[in-house]
Amino acid sequence: MDILDKLFSRELNRRTGERAIKIDADKKASQKNRAKSLGENALKASNGNVQKEKPKTSLLHRLDVRLPWLKIVAVFFIGLVAILDLLDLTISRVYDPYNKISIAPMSKHVRITERNLEGKKLVALTFDDGPSSETTPTLLKILQGRDVPATFFMLGYMARNNPDLVKQVKKAGHEIASHTMYHQNLIRISAGAVESDINEARTILTDILGQAPSLTRPPYGNINDAVRKNVGTPIILWSVDTLDWKYKNTDSIVSITMSEVSDGAIILMHDIHPTSVEAVPVLIDTLRDAGYEFTTISELAKIRQINLTNGTTYYNLKP
Ligand code: NI
Repeated sequence: MDILDKLFSRELNRRTGERAIKIDADKKASQKNRAKSLGENALKASNGNVQKEKPKTSLLHRLDVRLPWLKIVAVFFIGLVAILDLLDLTISRVYDPYNKISIAPMSKHVRITERNLEGKKLVALTFDDGPSSETTPTLLKILQGRDVPATFFMLGYMARNNPDLVKQVKKAGHEIASHTMYHQNLIRISAGAVESDINEARTILTDILGQAPSLTRPPYGNINDAVRKNVGTPIILWSVDTLDWKYKNTDSIVSITMSEVSDGAIILMHDIHPTSVEAVPVLIDTLRDAGYEFTTISELAKIRQINLTNGTTYYNLKP
């Protein structure tokens, strides 16, 4: 019984042991497989991350690696633009829709106030009745393109309708003056009406620009005591009437001007007519060919050492 017991229990132990070993082996194998697959997954995951992070290594860096010559080209190009800019060769041209040509500015590095006016005959171009959103922006481009400052006698109600344009005219270096509020014939209305019309225009322009208009031109050039008393600025009329509003024609504007112009002339035009704006480039070029240069009214008075006084009327600013 003892022997049988012993044999039985030994056999049992052996089998149990074998099974235990087998289970252990299976367990180890499955752990190994699991570890392997986990590792692969981890590797895959990390590969995925690397691929996702790749763009973060910067486009410039990758471009630099793949196209090393690109950097040299870029540096060369930026350098070239800088040199051309210094030499004034990259000036943008402005398109003049009326003459259907593009105009080359004289130089973007020459400011209106830096022009050399010494020994030049001087004239002041003046533009009345605007600013008009349809014609004044083109005129501004033409004046900028030729480096010509002008004086704009603006109507209060036109300025009120186009405040940004008023600012643009000022910013471009032109002089802003008043042409009254509603273009009334001031000698036909009461003194009180004259006062309120002039004051309303002044208030509008002052609100837009932060400063009062420097000069006044009464409509039709009509002046009486009520006008002189209320303007609060010098009164500026003209010595050359181009009659641009009447003939609406470049040739006639240029020929009238050239026959009447002289040093210190004040030239009257209207920037609300497309035909007037169209004539301006030709007029400027013709006057320049004849030895004239352009200033605003106030600049011209300063150069001529004429002290403009409020309520006094000026037709020209001759030397
Ligand atoms: Ni007018």
